[in-house]
Amino acid sequence: MDKLLEILMEKRGKYISGEELSSILGITRTAVWKRINALRERGFDIKAETKNGYMLQQAPDLLLPDLVGFYLKTDVLGREIVYYDSIGSTNEVAKGLAIGNCDEGTIVVAEEQVSGRGRISRGWYSPKFEGIYCSIILKPSVPISEIPKLTQLIGLGIARALQKRGINPLIKWPNDIVVNGKKVCGILTEMAAEMDAVHYVITGFGLNVNNRRIPGEISSIATSLYLESGEEFYRPELLASILKEIEIIYTAYKGGDYNGFISEVKSMSATIGRKVRVINGRMEYTGTAVDILPSGALLIEHDDGELTEAQAGDVSV
Ligand code: BTN
Repeated sequence: MDKLLEILMEKRGKYISGEELSSILGITRTAVWKRINALRERGFDIKAETKNGYMLQQAPDLLLPDLVGFYLKTDVLGREIVYYDSIGSTNEVAKGLAIGNCDEGTIVVAEEQVSGRGRISRGWYSPKFEGIYCSIILKPSVPISEIPKLTQLIGLGIARALQKRGINPLIKWPNDIVVNGKKVCGILTEMAAEMDAVHYVITGFGLNVNNRRIPGEISSIATSLYLESGEEFYRPELLASILKEIEIIYTAYKGGDYNGFISEVKSMSATIGRKVRVINGRMEYTGTAVDILPSGALLIEHDDGELTEAQAGDVSV
């Protein structure tokens, strides 16, 4: 992370003299002043006083790698951040990086997606500066059959981070996050694999954060954290805490230690105990969701008592 920015962030709301900065950074006071101006151009509100020096008053609510990095407490996830002001889809970029053999844990973030993708060939509404659009590249050495539970566990990581901020999320199978019955977050997991080995997994999530309104056509099913809590969230900090929660769970998953997490997913499930209609490709059936299995599959009881495991698909409740 940029050292000047790190110092200003640590001393937010307090002055630091140009002289001190120039000696810490080993550059002239004129060079400090130039770099301060460059930060201002990136949206940092920095006050300057001849007598006192410089004070960072406010950092912008942007997902800039330096800002996310300032709050990040992970070892792997987000250690490499690829940032876009605007992009088609972060999952598409992530795929290119994964094929190019980037490090595990690399993330792609954007302030806006102009062709954000959802599951089942849907789009994903991604307005500028309002949400978090992020794709994480993972390289777990596991067989394909282990992936459905991973997507559940990533949903849990996001839900845990939201819980820590006073939100009350539920997880709708397979891995939507809902608040007060409406969706705030969707996850799109894509992978490249052979029969017995996964090459990479891309988990893209879109979280509606500070949206003041949700457009008419989706407003009955979608919401934002702001709309549900009346609170604005500082996105770089929120993203860093989501990555931390996901990393804790992902590390346990790679060590085969996930049963406790699956129980937690169940305890936060918006689906268990509900009548559901499962749509998986051309297959469609109804029943009652009775359990989430250790594999991540949803167990459905039909009216005649027969049980089916849904591995993938979409559920409407
Ligand atoms: C869904 O619920 O249908 C999944 C939505 C996933 C949206 C995210 S936003 C970041 C990443 N990039 C995309 O194009 N899609 C995912």
